[in-house]
Amino acid sequence: MLNKISKFKFFLISLYILLSILYFSEEVSAQMKIELPKPRIGGGLSLSEALNKRESWRNFTPQVLKLEEISQILWSAGGKRLDAISGATRVYPSAGATYPLEIYLVVGKNGIEGLGEGIYLYLWQGHALEKISARDVRKNLANACLGQSFIREAPISLAILAEYEKTTLHYGQRGIQYVHMEVGSISQNLHLVCEELGLGTVIVGAFSDSAVKRVLGLPDNLTPLAIMPIGYKR
Ligand SMILES: Cc1cc2nc3c(=O)[nH]c(=O)nc-3n(C[C@H](O)[C@H](O)[C@H](O)COP(=O)(O)O)c2cc1C
Repeated sequence: MLNKISKFKFFLISLYILLSILYFSEEVSAQMKIELPKPRIGGGLSLSEALNKRESWRNFTPQVLKLEEISQILWSAGGKRLDAISGATRVYPSAGATYPLEIYLVVGKNGIEGLGEGIYLYLWQGHALEKISARDVRKNLANACLGQSFIREAPISLAILAEYEKTTLHYGQRGIQYVHMEVGSISQNLHLVCEELGLGTVIVGAFSDSAVKRVLGLPDNLTPLAIMPIGYKR
């Protein structure tokens, strides 16, 4: 009887240790910061060539993206100007330099070389990523976007999210318009950099706000405004 009890105790202790290891490894990987390679200035297509090539693209190959490519994409979307004198200056304009937008990167399995699947927050000040989740949520994200299946097939997607208060605190209701104007700047930057890199993208606005919030695990203060799947063109 005593032997049975100690065996059971041993089983419980082992289970506790195993669960603790799993919990803490998930926590550590979730908080990991990943520095991105320095973005490149110059080279590639001219602005007029990129503008002339730009089109919405919805058919992607599963080809893996390189870390250099995602670095260039994120910097072009919302990075810090490399020769900025003040800390506020970024690659797109913002009303009163309030910068209400955040960018989440959704990575599928084998989506980016050397970066696991999951959800990442772009940290523009340090040009780095912070891992938020280690799950491939592309299928759920596509469902949240009213079943637009190319979101499931693209190796990655960017979600542009707004913290309205950052701008409305200064400008009241008018600030809402300002926030929406800024999404336009970021999405056009993304279209152009994708053309420069030979990649395709499309701005997706048709989705359920609450479903996207759930899939991305967004805090209450962030509202999704656009999803942009990105990948090599098929
Ligand atoms: C605010 C906005 C929302 C959009 N939402 C979607 C969308 O949910 N799904 C989609 O496939 N395309 C979407 N588009 C892309 C448009 O369909 C596309 O820009 C338009 O057909 C013109 O084609 P072009 O971009 O190739 O010139 C959206 C575009 C804008 C500006």
